[in-house]
Amino acid sequence: MEIKRIIGGSLMSNCYIIYQKSGGSCFVIDPGYSPKQYSDFVKEKELFCKGIILTHLHSDHTGGAEALAKCLSCPVMMHEDDYFVYKGLVDIKLKDGDSLDLDGERLEILHTPGHTKGGICIYSDKSKVAFTGDTIFDTDLGRTDLSGGSEDELKRSIRQVIDKWGNDVMIYPGHDMNANMKFVRKHNQEFIDIVSGKDREQIEYQEEYNWNIRLK
Ligand SMILES: [Fe+2]
Repeated sequence: MEIKRIIGGSLMSNCYIIYQKSGGSCFVIDPGYSPKQYSDFVKEKELFCKGIILTHLHSDHTGGAEALAKCLSCPVMMHEDDYFVYKGLVDIKLKDGDSLDLDGERLEILHTPGHTKGGICIYSDKSKVAFTGDTIFDTDLGRTDLSGGSEDELKRSIRQVIDKWGNDVMIYPGHDMNANMKFVRKHNQEFIDIVSGKDREQIEYQEEYNWNIRLK
């Protein structure tokens, strides 16, 4: 699988365009901002977009989806539990265990609530990659204090889904850099705390702190 990362907006959100080769099919994951930056790449590589997959409902991951879907004439997909915000925009409601085909490679939809109710990861066992949205980053986890967030659900998602991945699985998060699970197990303290049965330390959000930075 080829993976193109395009960083957008002041929140530095990661959009990923995944494909096998030029002239083949692609999926666009989380086009949060101006659609042109994503459509230019799709056109340059002469890709056929099979769909836009939204990992969760926050606007820094979804903001460019409607315009990009029109531009590329493709469906928008997201988990059924986050769909309520985007009635009329989302064409395909996803659920845990669904799979999508990327030119012979199976992409598995894994429901990982916690950051939002309908958060998902997109996993490929063939390439050993997972697109994790704002569920887990390289060195920390997604926040759970926004609408629909739940620390208990995030703990379940971490223990029952993400901690099942081997050290060779590379995570591609919604912000920050990609990292393999070996790195995560060594350097992501919030992850380490949760899998070892502790509560992670809750972050104090200061008034003067720009909360947007922590929208992830
Ligand atoms: Fe988010």
